Order: sequence, then structure tokens, then C-alpha cells
Amino acid sequence: MKIGILTSGGDCPGLNAVIRGAVLKGIKIHGQEFVGFRDGWRGVVEGDIIELPRQSVRGISKQGGTILGTSRTNPFDGGGPEVIKAHMDRLGIDAIIAIGGEGTLAAAKRLTDVGLKIVGVPKTVDNDLDATDYTFGFDTAVEIATEAIDRLRTTGESHHRCMIAEVMGRHVGWIALHAGMASGAHAILIPEQKVSVEQIAEWVSDAHERGRAPLVVVAEGFVPEHLETPHSERGLDTFGRPRLGGIGEQLCAQIEEITGIETRATILGHIQRGGVPTAYDRVLATRLGMAAIDSVVEGTWGTMVALSGTEIVHVPFEAALGNLKTVPQSRYDEAAILFG
Ligand code: F6P
Repeated sequence: MKIGILTSGGDCPGLNAVIRGAVLKGIKIHGQEFVGFRDGWRGVVEGDIIELPRQSVRGISKQGGTILGTSRTNPFDGGGPEVIKAHMDRLGIDAIIAIGGEGTLAAAKRLTDVGLKIVGVPKTVDNDLDATDYTFGFDTAVEIATEAIDRLRTTGESHHRCMIAEVMGRHVGWIALHAGMASGAHAILIPEQKVSVEQIAEWVSDAHERGRAPLVVVAEGFVPEHLETPHSERGLDTFGRPRLGGIGEQLCAQIEEITGIETRATILGHIQRGGVPTAYDRVLATRLGMAAIDSVVEGTWGTMVALSGTEIVHVPFEAALGNLKTVPQSRYDEAAILFG
């Protein structure tokens, strides 16, 4: 059996560990052959592949990024099931393992519905996919953000400034919640919770009055109470979604104006998606890659592997689509006890 692997959408530490886990198990246990599609669905609709023999995955679980490349190509633009099927037949590929986030899995579901043999592996640093407790890449992003915020903290303390750290999190605030809690933030601002600028300023002033350098951690998708949509000044991405980033700078000016406290903002941006995965992410990603081979062997097309507690389970694509895994009110309330 020959299996094609693709990585699609925004990259994420741990992608290479998934590829390695799948290839090693497939070759060792089932004698399968592997190829990789270059740059996500683009490689699938163009039939652009590289061979993935055992030596090609040697030592890659600690490498960030993806050895296959990625893109935000939609497989239905200039491709579609007939074109993909024709390439698979020509190349002798029997099944596809698609590693990606919501957009990738939604496309995979549509293609499976018309008969293509695809299984999925969920991926997102934002940790916003439902039906899996955690996605690989999230732990690494939190670790990187926490380290960076700790550094902002010391320079903030030297200058008695308020420091704002803007982290990723388009629709959900998991990275902000975890990195903010870990670094002892005086305010954590997430897309799920509207907060007024006056309330943020009050938390900042309270911390400052106690002699602390106030620290605000804000997710890129946070919307202050008086606004309707997340801050976006960079146009649209290839999926037509607003490119986020910049809410930290906006809050910086407002906090400084209300409190009179000198304030600086830093956007951590793609640093959170780069570099080596944590040990936790390597292990999770490797297990998910190996479990995807079980899905292929069992022919459970239209399902993805997922983490439930400490177990790897298999769930239908639709369980992961539809609903975002948002930060529950109780988790925010718990963190908010420490604000100010
Ligand atoms: O979905 C993950 C994510 O990192 C979001 O948090 C962010 O808004 C987006 O991807 C950035 O995408 P790009 O890499 O295309 O700029």
C-alpha cells in the first residue's frame, strides 16, 4: 500500500514528528510505502510529490516546520476530486494522511464524502479544534510565549513600565490563558471575553500601585468592549480571513493615556510557531502519526486521530468541525482571580 502525506495550513512545531511516526510505523509494521505531497493541497492537485523512504525521516521529530512544506491552497480551486483521483491513480497512491487544521479537515471531509480515501491528523497552535483535548504545537507555542513574556517582565521592572505581550489566538485564547497564567500576568485578554479598556487600565494601575511592573497578555483576536471585530490592518489572507495583529499596540496607547504609566507593546507573532517542538509535542505528534496508520489499515476514511485524556482515539471529521474549542467561562474566571 502506498500512502501520501500532506501538511497544510499554518505550520506548527511537531509536524515532522507526525510524519516520522507515520512513516516508521507504516514501514516497520505494515510494509507500506510513503510519498509526501509538496506544500499541502497544492502538491495534491498538481501531483507534486517527493519520496519518503525511511532515511528521509531520520532525526526529524525535533525539527520545527515541515519537511514537506505547506500552503493555504484550497484543493477545490483548480483541482477537485477528479483531478486528485487522476493523480493518485497515476502515482499509485492508495490513501492520503492530511495533517492540518479546520480548513484542511473541512476540505478532507468534502473529498472523503465523494469517495477519496483520506484520514486526518489535527494541527493548530491555537488549540481551537474540538474533539481533541490538545493539539501538538500548542505546548511549544505556550512555552515560547512564556519565555518571551518572562523576558519582557524583567525589562518592564527595570523601567517601571507596563508591558503588553500580544500572542496568537485568532478565535480562542488558549495560548494567552496558559502563557499569561504561567508568567503571572495582571490581565489576560482573550477573544471569548469582552473587557472594557477602563477595566484593563484599572488592573494595570492596581499592579503599578503595589510597585509591580504591570503585565498584560492579549490574544490577537481579543475585541475590547466598545468594538465589534478584532483589530486587523493587514488585509486578508488567502482564505479571505482578516490578517490579525496589532491590538497590543492599540491598547498600549489607550492604557498609557488613561493611567499615565509608560507602556510598551510587543507582538510575538510567528516566533510562537517556529523552532523545535517541546518533548510533550514530539510525543503527542509521534503517537498521532502512528495512530493515523491504524486508521488507514482499518480503512476508517473520513476520521481523524485525536487525544482524549491520555488515549489516542479516532473521531469523524465532523466532530472536529462545526464547533471551536473555546476557553470555558470557568477557566477564565479562575485566571481572573489573579488579575490586577
Ligand atoms: O491558525 C494559526 C495562526 O497562527 C493564527 O493564530 C494566526 O491568526 C494565523 O495562523 C496566522 O497565519 P499566517 O501564518 O498565514 O500569517
